[in-house]
Amino acid sequence: MNSDLQRIVFQAETEFKSAKSLPELENTKSLFLGKKGKLTIQFNNLKGLDEAHRKELGNELNLAKKTIEKTLASCRKKLVEDRIAKKLKSQAIDISLPGRGLNSGTIHPLSLSLRRIGEIFQGMGFEVAEGPEIETDWFNFTALNNPKDHPARSMQDTFYIENKDEFGQNLLLRTHTSPVQVRYAIDNEPPIRVISPGKTYRVDNDATHSPMFHQIEGLWLDETINFSNLKGVYINFLKEFFESTNLQVRFRPSYFPFTEPSAEVDMKFSNGPLKGKWLEVAGAGMVHPNVVANFGLQSKKIKGFAFGMGLERLTMLKFGINDLRLFFENDLRFLRQFQC
Ligand code: DAH
Repeated sequence: MNSDLQRIVFQAETEFKSAKSLPELENTKSLFLGKKGKLTIQFNNLKGLDEAHRKELGNELNLAKKTIEKTLASCRKKLVEDRIAKKLKSQAIDISLPGRGLNSGTIHPLSLSLRRIGEIFQGMGFEVAEGPEIETDWFNFTALNNPKDHPARSMQDTFYIENKDEFGQNLLLRTHTSPVQVRYAIDNEPPIRVISPGKTYRVDNDATHSPMFHQIEGLWLDETINFSNLKGVYINFLKEFFESTNLQVRFRPSYFPFTEPSAEVDMKFSNGPLKGKWLEVAGAGMVHPNVVANFGLQSKKIKGFAFGMGLERLTMLKFGINDLRLFFENDLRFLRQFQC
């Protein structure tokens, strides 16, 4: 390569290497390889040479051009890498910094209870199933052996929806989670062990009632299930949920159309602010033969127990909350007390 060309190559390499940014590099490139660039001019000069010289200089020029382009490519690569490294550095997160305590969220107390309830029942082999909040009259009432003239079916007690089901009956917001028993037992073969949590709706509103609230339904169906199984499972659940082994529990005779016999479950704390008071926590009983038949099963063969409990009530007892409306007001002073 002649000395002129060597100088141009050297100059180009030095300038490319000193470019601080990609645009600067591209500008520098045009000084050598652009239309009026130093190397381009040399190429243009080839025209006036005789063939032997043109060939010789042409080869040298191509070599010079290749060398310059190689340096250009490596400088470009380096600048791109530098730019990425700089960006990564400026966006780096220090994962060793502590969290911003007060601004972080907390788990809603109802969710905390629900998680715990799920864990306890799953530990006893129960599955968790959900059902629709908008129900048909058949699933919410009829299939559960609810008499036609039951007050819960009145317009004053239940939220009805204008749309009708296939039998011409108005759809409604489910008044309890019991219809999920029916849906689950129709779709699955016994033995069945399931709990179904979810939202329920009634025309009620005061310190201990809300138009929307949550229930958890339980169902265990098999050939040999009896009332003792119900007592064993439910008492075990209460002891685990309230983390107390000396909790007293009683099953008080009651009436539900879908169970026979039926009971209301009461419990008594042996210490704490509610010490000594009997508190009602659930409805329960042996699934009524008519309901077992509505599941599509033989009521002579398949027995089972069911229970239903209010999530708000259990959570109020667990955390000592005295007004149910607190759950739905989203007051951060209340919610932040439930860190987990
Ligand atoms: N569904 C009843 C209610 O909302 C609660 C209930 C009672 C559910 C007894 C049951 C049961 O499964 O066996 O008041």
